[in-house]
Amino acid sequence: MEKIIVKASRTYQVSIGRGLFSQLCALTPCHPGIAVIVSDEVVAPWYMEMVSAALKAGGYHVKNFIVPQGERAKSFIWYEKLLSFLADAHITRSDVIFALGGGVVGDLSGFVASSYLRGIPYIQLPTTLLAAVDSSVGGKTAINLPEGKNLVGAFYQPYAVIMDTNSLQTLDADIFADGCAEIIKYGLLADESLFKLLSQHVLTKNREDTALLETVIARCVAIKRDIVAQDERDTGIRNLLNLGHTFGHAIEKCSGFSIRHGHAVAAGMAMVTRVAVRHGICDNQVLEKLKSVLQEYGLPVSSEFSPDSLLSALRSDKKINGNVLRLILPQHIGSCRIEEIPLDKLDQYLIG
Ligand code: GLY
Repeated sequence: MEKIIVKASRTYQVSIGRGLFSQLCALTPCHPGIAVIVSDEVVAPWYMEMVSAALKAGGYHVKNFIVPQGERAKSFIWYEKLLSFLADAHITRSDVIFALGGGVVGDLSGFVASSYLRGIPYIQLPTTLLAAVDSSVGGKTAINLPEGKNLVGAFYQPYAVIMDTNSLQTLDADIFADGCAEIIKYGLLADESLFKLLSQHVLTKNREDTALLETVIARCVAIKRDIVAQDERDTGIRNLLNLGHTFGHAIEKCSGFSIRHGHAVAAGMAMVTRVAVRHGICDNQVLEKLKSVLQEYGLPVSSEFSPDSLLSALRSDKKINGNVLRLILPQHIGSCRIEEIPLDKLDQYLIG
């Protein structure tokens, strides 16, 4: 098992290993009270019983709350339903929410935990690779508005993150590849040796190698931990984690969200690297190496959308601050920098 300690406004442990759902109580820093397990209709049939049994064995009184699969659960409707469920069950600050699922379940549960009774404990139990390496760590919680994704939320750190790598074996290939895109992002962003490892051992072809998965997930979490420790509230270097996301979000938006997040981020990384090459910020070899790894994983390296439609989607990006867009540009494999582009120079800078 890998253990990583995150030091932010709360200090907590991220545990990564096989079969950890059966050892939940040993890894949970809270005293047994009521455990509300929040999960979705797809994940619950796989793991709810196991998680529930482990918590009951540790003395918890367990209640379950199931949301629909997908982004529609990150809505005011489900936010309110979950709050009412907690109130009806007389949940207090000494009880705990367990978020069992991917990023949607984690984001919704975390936001509810941040606001119910002005904050109750929650523990992330990520079941997707994407949630394991990104959304379950770092305390970003949110729901969506009709106007855009993640527009209402809070920075609220979990009390623990417990990732059972057995859950990765049941993921659809596309969902697994989504997580791989974020993992490749960490290599390009901050760790050349991780990038090399990912090209030598293609995770999509080595899924059953749980030791490899544990090592890789732990490395990504450690990179995120170091960044979050310096900039928990995302005012500076935490922006680096958005590598590939500026174009990625534009691609998701142009596709009406039919293109998966990780796939859009993969194309977004290749596109922003092309921009970096054009401005002499990185060498063409970086782009070639990136494209080759992404293609090994079956991930896209470009998008079908016109520059004009991408630019118009980019202009409504929530990463725009005042009149500037912060763009993350690769310099080498393992090193990136933040460039502030004035909005009136955006077209020229990106497609110029
Ligand atoms: N997902 C990017 C971040 O946590 O900042």
